[in-house]
Amino acid sequence: MVKKVAIITNGGDCPGLNAVIRAIVKTAETHGVECYGYIEGYKGLLENNYIKLESNGSASGLLHRGGTIIGASNSTNLFNYPVEENGQKVYKDMSYKAVENVKQAGFDCIFTLGGDGTQKSARDFTLRGLNIIGVPKTIDNDVAHSEITFGYNTAVSVATEALDRLHSTAESHHRIMTLEVMGRYAGWIALESAIAGGADAAIIPEIPYDINKIVEKVNKRKADGKKFSIIVVSEGAKPKDGEMIVKKTMNDGKGLDNIRLGGIGEKLARDLEELTGMVSRNTVLGYVQRGGTPTAYDRVLSTKYGSKAMELALEGKFNVLVTLKNGKLDSVPLEEVVGNNKEIGARSGGTESTNIKRVTMDDDLVKVARDLDICLGD
Ligand code: F6P
Repeated sequence: MVKKVAIITNGGDCPGLNAVIRAIVKTAETHGVECYGYIEGYKGLLENNYIKLESNGSASGLLHRGGTIIGASNSTNLFNYPVEENGQKVYKDMSYKAVENVKQAGFDCIFTLGGDGTQKSARDFTLRGLNIIGVPKTIDNDVAHSEITFGYNTAVSVATEALDRLHSTAESHHRIMTLEVMGRYAGWIALESAIAGGADAAIIPEIPYDINKIVEKVNKRKADGKKFSIIVVSEGAKPKDGEMIVKKTMNDGKGLDNIRLGGIGEKLARDLEELTGMVSRNTVLGYVQRGGTPTAYDRVLSTKYGSKAMELALEGKFNVLVTLKNGKLDSVPLEEVVGNNKEIGARSGGTESTNIKRVTMDDDLVKVARDLDICLGD
């Protein structure tokens, strides 16, 4: 019998986190279960830092609120955690301490709201004896086995609005506009917003691009009397003969993704200006994609995910990730979500063994983009 549960929100924040928290809390209350929230993701487990969540108290007024009321951490890997020993920084497995804390606090289940890295750690904690239910979060929409992650629809809407605005200024000045959006290893945001915003090219990490193909597209438009072009590019995109542009490497983030991307939009704009002779400008959309209020779609999705997560806990179905399958709420074992990335505490996100959901060439969005003559850089 589940009596006491806790939530963590881990990784980069994302619209809909608070809506999931609200749905878990309300469903828990409906069934007489007490609900708590760990502060700042997995770090809260180690620091034993949690608060009571109640729909008439700390968890009130959450549905439309961006961010997360319990904070998030996107560099904490408790299986490989930096600690000071004799004035030196060393990495240690602190997961046993976290498990002890959770057991002492008496939590029957932990809900892990997070992306690929978070669910990898969640699986690892199940092997240390915790009951976990994951909820797939990330604006990038790249969590394996989930049809859609919450936060993604909001990010696509923000990118689409940006494209609408770029259209009018591009047209006025006869310019090429590049828009760099998020998406480290998966190009969902770029591809879907390009379709929604009527862009001329969508350049994604899954298709290393040939600059000549984009030049051809821009020149063809010019020949057809269209004096501007709009190009959406994922931050993780790379040229056919080149690499992703890494802005910063954070060696401390050993346990999780330790690179910060950025700059491919600027490079594309520069190269296109040189090769087409057209004035080009770049816009980096950045964190506005992640901040602020969720769309109606994301509010409903987050609410569905939250209530399903609590229902699974009540049924005693632990160590799974809540998903949508063919539009219906479902779940898959966390073991399947980590794929080949089996090693406990191993890095995740962008490693070869990682199991993130990338755009595949047979996806409807790819076919639609090709039908609409949106250049994919190949
Ligand atoms: O994983 C979501 C994401 O938005 C990525 O697309 C982006 O690269 C990353 O977060 C940046 O997060 P931060 O700067 O907070 O580490």
